[in-house]
Amino acid sequence: MAIRTILNKSDEALSKLCKPVEKFDEKLWILLDDMAETLKKADGAGLAACQVGILRRAVVIDVGEGLYELINPEIIETSGTQYGVEGCLSCPGEWGYVTRAQKVKFKAQDRNGNWYEKEVEDLFARCVQHECDHLDGKVFTRLIEEYVDAEEENSK
Ligand code: NI
Repeated sequence: MAIRTILNKSDEALSKLCKPVEKFDEKLWILLDDMAETLKKADGAGLAACQVGILRRAVVIDVGEGLYELINPEIIETSGTQYGVEGCLSCPGEWGYVTRAQKVKFKAQDRNGNWYEKEVEDLFARCVQHECDHLDGKVFTRLIEEYVDAEEENSK
């Protein structure tokens, strides 16, 4: 496994529409393993492949419930709303309040191409929405309703 470089939101890879993953081969598994290690080292909650320069629809998420791999994820149901602070590994120092759905039901493929469905809420749901946006070239900063002063946040 290897740590990959996380691109800044100013990199054009962050504004591109990512293509579906079609091959569930060793190349994908290496990418997913590297993404998991990179996410852990950065102490983040989620990472999309485009953030390490790979324009494919692959995401890793770990919100403290173990590592989840979402290949070609699609949100199929949402309900409720949550308003909370969000950040992004591609936007160091930028934090802001974003409205998201409270609950999300999504389907995705695992690293072998098998489809699964999962219902998640709160932080996990926020993360799924944030990462799926990345796959469509959308960075969360466009959704910020109120910025949070990073220094103020760190002193809490
Ligand atoms: Ni992000």
